[in-house]
Amino acid sequence: MRQGHFIVLEGVDGAGTTTHSRRLCDALGKKIAVHETREPTAGPVGALLRQALTGRLVTPGALGVRPPAWNTLALMFAADRLDHLEAEILPLLHARISVVCDRYYHSSIAYQSLTSGSDSAATVQWIREINRHAIAPDLTIVLDIPAPVAAERRRRRPGVEIFDDDPLQAQLCEFYRELERHFPDQNIVHVDSNRAVEAVSADILAHAEHRLRSAKPA
Ligand code: TMP
Repeated sequence: MRQGHFIVLEGVDGAGTTTHSRRLCDALGKKIAVHETREPTAGPVGALLRQALTGRLVTPGALGVRPPAWNTLALMFAADRLDHLEAEILPLLHARISVVCDRYYHSSIAYQSLTSGSDSAATVQWIREINRHAIAPDLTIVLDIPAPVAAERRRRRPGVEIFDDDPLQAQLCEFYRELERHFPDQNIVHVDSNRAVEAVSADILAHAEHRLRSAKPA
């Protein structure tokens, strides 16, 4: 039985999920036992994914070297996630430690379906299927941000990743805005991330504390 709460932060690149996961953990940590984590993880599959994201992971094929295709990436993200759950998240939740995770399977549904070339129901269904053994979060907080603001934030970051593409990120913004369409049974809230960091953090903390107060872990 899970005894800690599992809280996920989601959003496009530049929405602030990493900053706000840290700030949420710092704030909650003053009151309860909480652990901060992220996907892709620092584990074996996560390390490969980090290389894939920066274009350093290529495989030789009949047509020359090429990066992994969207479906290979989807399987890698799912494998990293199941390892993450088994090695880190579930033992902590069972030990009454709450977990805040920077990205989770919502990112797979969003990014891998939109980069598949066909974000059809069948594609989304397949990504769901390979994530079937991943537990549902108690609360998912989506950081909403206008696409041009996120693009400007990304431009200020060092390095380029394979999903640093403005038209793709604009599609992702739309996808995240309606994330609950894909997860109608889940507890999903939206926070406007296009504000001062303190104001955004305060709203995120209020949502998390409300969930902690109002419901036992699933
Ligand atoms: P980040 O750690 O800077 O957020 O980068 C992770 C990137 O990986 C980000 O562009 C989103 C992407 N991603 C997926 O495409 N699928 C996934 O399942 C996850 C967890 C992340």
